[in-house]
Amino acid sequence: MAHPPTSHPFLQNRRFLLGTFASNCSGGMTVSKLPERWVADWTNNLNLALLLDDAGIDFMLPIARWVGYGGETDFHGEVLETITWATALLARTRRITVFATCHTAANHPVVAAKQIATLSQISGGRVGLNVVAGWNKPEYEALGLTLPDDHDTRYAYAQEWFDIARSLWSSEAPFDWNGRFFALRKTYGKPRPEVAPPIINAAGSPEGRGFAVRNANFLFTPAIDLARSKEEIDDLKRQARGVSRDVDVLTFSHVACRPTEEEAKAHWRRTLENADWGAVDNLVRLQFAHAQSFPHDLLALIRERMAVGHGGFPLVGTPTQVADSICALREAGFRGTTLSFLDYVAEFPFFRDTVLPILAERGVR
Ligand SMILES: Cc1cc2nc3c(=O)[nH]c(=O)nc-3n(C[C@H](O)[C@H](O)[C@H](O)COP(=O)(O)O)c2cc1C
Repeated sequence: MAHPPTSHPFLQNRRFLLGTFASNCSGGMTVSKLPERWVADWTNNLNLALLLDDAGIDFMLPIARWVGYGGETDFHGEVLETITWATALLARTRRITVFATCHTAANHPVVAAKQIATLSQISGGRVGLNVVAGWNKPEYEALGLTLPDDHDTRYAYAQEWFDIARSLWSSEAPFDWNGRFFALRKTYGKPRPEVAPPIINAAGSPEGRGFAVRNANFLFTPAIDLARSKEEIDDLKRQARGVSRDVDVLTFSHVACRPTEEEAKAHWRRTLENADWGAVDNLVRLQFAHAQSFPHDLLALIRERMAVGHGGFPLVGTPTQVADSICALREAGFRGTTLSFLDYVAEFPFFRDTVLPILAERGVR
């Protein structure tokens, strides 16, 4: 099978990659009742994208979510759909890479491949794709879909889905497809993307990691304990080398950056004290029932981190302390991280003005 060229600017970029995560979802990454919690509407998302684009931030990653997590706030109950969100953001920005996130079971691969190709043309090749094989059972039920209990079937389906998309992006001629899940006659995809879109996958299970190693440019995984992360990254890169691939690892972080450490810690504490624990517990229960993304032996720590940052790595403190923590992620082997804030638009400018210059001085960006 021929592949389109892999010269996407995002893949050429050797800086420590910085992006944002989940700005399309109500609450963002903070499961909080605070009145200033994130409102995921278009105005806020556009304002954020323009700030990020101007500041030279590398990417924006959305979450594809169809059912919220309940609690008092129905965390992630209000979510902008990711293909349309990415389309509008790409049309309004100049440099930043914007990912769409697709659940394989909810998006036909021929349609999704063409959506991504269309976005590639609209954006001059700045679109990326996060492939989700599915884990959230209530969400599947809301879509009238059946989530297979076993990871083998989930990822076999995702593999066939992705093989079809990739074939459409690379084949000149129409082709037939006779697979386990899809039978297609004389299918083709025009236009094709100008460059192969960067692919993210965020699997935690061995089957999912196999999928990521075979297909993704980036595996996205939580950073709970950096010593473990280092081993995990080394192991993944070894697996990738075994199939002659190079896969980088990204993580997600939650920022509480203030001029003093006391102020930053007070902000974190206040967010935690105002957590929507009903939603947090639903989130943890669902993650642990159907997904293998978080280590199960660290439940207490994870419950707290789920409340502030949806399980993201805490970047808490002064600008120098936050820059130190970002450098620690880099030293553990991560290729980049997303950032989230209680209120992205209100808090990003302080990060931009104080943390980015330190990272530049240290040669990290
Ligand atoms: C950073 C990150 C982003 C993810 N984005 C989504 C998403 O947008 N929608 C979704 O349903 N699942 C999302 N997931 C879930 C993963 O795709 C995956 O299903 C989950 O981590 C469970 O892994 P497993 O399928 O190997 O058990 C994300 C996970 C992580 C860590």
